[in-house]
Amino acid sequence: MVERKGLEDLPGVGPATAEKLKEAGYGSIEALAVSSSSEVASIADIGESTAQKIINAARLAADVGGFETGDQVLERRKLVGKLSFGTKAFDDLMGGGIETQAITEFYGEFGSGKTQVAHQMAVNAQLPIEEKGLEGSVIIIDTENTFRPERITQMVKGLSVRMGTEYDPEIFLKNIHVAKAYNSNHQILLVDTAMDLANKLKDSDKPVRLIIVDSLTAHFRAEYVGRGTLADRQQKLNKHMHELMKFGTLYNAAILVTNQVMSKPDAFFGDPTKPIGGHIVGHTATFRLYLRKSKGEKRIARLVDSPNLPEGEAIFSVTTEGLKD
Ligand code: GTP
Ligand code: MG
Repeated sequence: MVERKGLEDLPGVGPATAEKLKEAGYGSIEALAVSSSSEVASIADIGESTAQKIINAARLAADVGGFETGDQVLERRKLVGKLSFGTKAFDDLMGGGIETQAITEFYGEFGSGKTQVAHQMAVNAQLPIEEKGLEGSVIIIDTENTFRPERITQMVKGLSVRMGTEYDPEIFLKNIHVAKAYNSNHQILLVDTAMDLANKLKDSDKPVRLIIVDSLTAHFRAEYVGRGTLADRQQKLNKHMHELMKFGTLYNAAILVTNQVMSKPDAFFGDPTKPIGGHIVGHTATFRLYLRKSKGEKRIARLVDSPNLPEGEAIFSVTTEGLKD
């Protein structure tokens, strides 16, 4: 894979411009490539035609916006891997698990199990392909400070029992790279950092094959309040999602994001279980799963959106040892 370039490597981008763009959340060439000239012009305080030239250079460097021939797409699709949940019901629902080169979104109320699913997948992703893993490392962008190494240890122990093999939790923990995101801009920048890490690990025996953003929307929701800021928020979320997608394509990694639902039933908007982020998140995520609580440890996952699988539900349990049927 190509050496990653920085913004400063683009013709027309000096250190000052690069700095302004980074501060505004356009930290990568990929982000710049999918932005608009008016946006970039106002952020960097440059003319629109200069901005357009920079964007064009970014598109060239990032190789986005170009066409792939059908056979190239097929070649890339051949590499798509599946990451098992480790529960039959869940795997059946998803045709074997979550796909690489795709964004899978889990949305649901607090306590519905989104973070637990994320932890379990961070474990499963490290398993060999024969055991329905991806034989890879994991990156977690933790925005709510809910990553718990203790839970990983418990789940690895549960896995050892289930598989009848002695797995070492320490090794699993070593292959999970966690970064806390302090705000939405930081969250966006962390995808860049993730690319650097993925580049470093790409020829190792544990390349990055799963990236988790838990939660995708919490910072955005907290920071952009009020109607006037909605367009801004959606634009940033859109950019963020596309960068994540880019990550998935570049590194053949699965992308798992979590999303809250609007907690207060709003008379004007009816459905109290609408995921945050609206159309932007909905249209960019390849697969959407709605999680809800049932009795005790039981949870119900509903596949609500998928390009190639029928809608349906799976029942699973969240236990101390991890997800179970
Ligand atoms: P928010 O992030 O608040 O929106 O919720 P979430 O959907 O991420 O929920 P999360 O995955 O954190 O689920 C929390 C629930 O998982 C708890 O209420 C417990 O029911 C269950 N859980 C978490 N840890 C354990 C554990 O060690 N053992 C068992 N049995 N259940 C656990
Ligand atoms: Mg959570």
